[in-house]
Amino acid sequence: MNETPEARIRALVRAELHALTPYHVPPSEGFIKLDAMENPYGLPKEVKDALLERLRAVPLNRYPDPAARALKARLRDFSGLDESFALLLGNGSDEILQMLLLAVRRGVMAPEPSFSMYPLISAMVGVPYRGVPLREDFSLDVPAMLEAMAAEKPGIVFLASPNNPTGNAFPLEAIEAIVKKSPGLVVVDEAYIPFGGASALQLLPRHPHLLVLRTLSKLGLAGLRLGWIMGHPAWIEVLEKVRLPYNINSLTQAGAAFALEHREVFAAQIAAIKAERERLYRALLSMGFEVYPSAANFILFRAPGRGESLFEALKRQKVLVKCLHGSHPLLADCLRVTVGLPEENDAFLRALRHG
Ligand SMILES: Cc1ncc(COP(=O)(O)O)c(C=O)c1O
Repeated sequence: MNETPEARIRALVRAELHALTPYHVPPSEGFIKLDAMENPYGLPKEVKDALLERLRAVPLNRYPDPAARALKARLRDFSGLDESFALLLGNGSDEILQMLLLAVRRGVMAPEPSFSMYPLISAMVGVPYRGVPLREDFSLDVPAMLEAMAAEKPGIVFLASPNNPTGNAFPLEAIEAIVKKSPGLVVVDEAYIPFGGASALQLLPRHPHLLVLRTLSKLGLAGLRLGWIMGHPAWIEVLEKVRLPYNINSLTQAGAAFALEHREVFAAQIAAIKAERERLYRALLSMGFEVYPSAANFILFRAPGRGESLFEALKRQKVLVKCLHGSHPLLADCLRVTVGLPEENDAFLRALRHG
């Protein structure tokens, strides 16, 4: 008899993968979607038409520019990155996280709770992961981080600032204290920097083992899949070795370059999202929730004793947020809501009141 796929999988697939479940994205059709930190605004019609015109000229029969030179030049300008540093592009910043872990395999450390992909990608590529709890107010516990770093000598420390899912930005002094004592690389993940917090980019000249990661996803182009990482050319050269040659497709290269020529569109949307964030924050406070200040495009709040039931009640009313209850002890009864359009935020608040 033929060997079953299950038997052959048990024999051939890396043991740690058997216990892994693939990253789950809940179905959202028919929902007001406030669970994934997307920018709710699309492009204005005339900008979208101009984008489509630009994409028309892309030769899809040819491979993309493997070095994405034109796009890199625009991203350098957009980020204000000095010529003495280099940058590398990824199919979303997720892909860059994977490249980092393919290249540096001595162990990953990150404060917790933080972005769920840090432990997930570590498990995927077979690199040990260690989380160090944030303080109860979600501030960075620098002494605990330094102690854990001295004991375990991680190859990479990830610091998301502003942090997902807590929303707070870490002070640059705290980040620099960790960079100074790190025995490996420190990657500051600035996915939410368009919405608040000070950038660690200004620390690059003093710290050759620091890298800064960004993405277009939260800015308003999650569907394009484009992330970039910046830092010392020697480190970027290492990452180039684990980058697949055509990882940024031609439509993304052209679309992202176009978007960076229309920054004012995104700037206006970000200003609107920040104003709505403040309105939501105050409304949640006035409803008696524990609400955490946010420098991002989402808000974390706690409904003591009824986090899960509230999440379900919102879902019944067709509003999808993220339930974090059970994902970390510090997040008991916590929900995370992405700032949506004003009318979406109104619907969310109405559904909350209705309960
Ligand atoms: C902290 C953080 N980094 C990176 C990402 C992934 O972004 P991308 O869409 O560029 O893969 C996310 C997405 O939620 C995030 O929260």
